[in-house]
Amino acid sequence: MEQQTLLAYLRGEDDSALFAKADEIRRSVYGTDVYIRGLIEISNFCARNCYYCGIRAGNPNTSRYRLTNDEILACAHHGYSLGFRTFVLQGGEDPYFSEKTVCELIDRIKTHHPDCAVTLSLGEQPKETYRAWFSAGADRYLLRHETATKSHYQSLHPQTSSFENRRECLFALKELGYQVGSGFMVGSPNQTLEHLAEDFAFLAELQPDMIGIGPFIPHCDTPFGAHPSGDLSLTLRTVALARILFPHALIPATTALGTLHPQGRERGLKCGANVVMPNLSPEAARARYSLYNNKLHTGTESVEQLQKLKDEISAIGYQVVVDRGDVKK
Ligand code: 5AD
Repeated sequence: MEQQTLLAYLRGEDDSALFAKADEIRRSVYGTDVYIRGLIEISNFCARNCYYCGIRAGNPNTSRYRLTNDEILACAHHGYSLGFRTFVLQGGEDPYFSEKTVCELIDRIKTHHPDCAVTLSLGEQPKETYRAWFSAGADRYLLRHETATKSHYQSLHPQTSSFENRRECLFALKELGYQVGSGFMVGSPNQTLEHLAEDFAFLAELQPDMIGIGPFIPHCDTPFGAHPSGDLSLTLRTVALARILFPHALIPATTALGTLHPQGRERGLKCGANVVMPNLSPEAARARYSLYNNKLHTGTESVEQLQKLKDEISAIGYQVVVDRGDVKK
């Protein structure tokens, strides 16, 4: 797609054509299936200090927790009985979850549930650690690039975070054989439409299997606490463009999108998204895994209301399936 066309779509010049095209492409590749991922938030300790994120190391008001491997395995067992065939282990960059601890965890999940995929979302790690986790059986890795423009990246992160390292991590993960997910927030402070165009150019270079896009939502205990949330329509346009530009990608209707607007998740599914990630974390952990204010954790994004989620998805013409939901290439 021409840069000028992309920018025109981002400006909202033809939303109905954009959304219809995205849904048509999604149906041609993935039909009306919606894949579910059981999200297990394993720790909210984080060594990083990203200016936008509620669990940043420098937030003294976060009540920190980490789950034990036994607790995580119990979440996976519960999820399996509900029909989940992918588990996403997500956490801050917590040294407690060492290479070895995570290897043991992956091994235990894979031994009990050999028909399931394990997705990791544990931040930037040495390539050798990524390799060890892949050898232990991890299938996929989520690491959003956050923004593909260096100056913008530097305005969202302290100097201790490296723009180059994050990109190198993504290419290393691909090379090791993971199905790789990247992505970005819409409406983060200082973001322009040109930055979003850069994000798509970076994705074209990376060719990720998964693309996570959600609106920025402020967290009151961060430097960006007073910044407004990202725009719903602009977020939906970026989701639709992601589907059109990357027809085979797995694209979640994110919790942030559902938090921004009561119909956010459904609207995401109608314009290209084909994945939802209900929360399997223990109740006590959920409220504490607070990346942004008002993050949903008791409604249909929680596993207790899986049936309601399925009904809502059926009502708009798609269906939740029991499937690992690997990328179709
Ligand atoms: N608003 C929206 N998304 C956020 N994330 C972190 N903080 C926020 C926020 N305030 C996203 C980042 C990260 C993912 C796990 O959550 O993009 O990669």
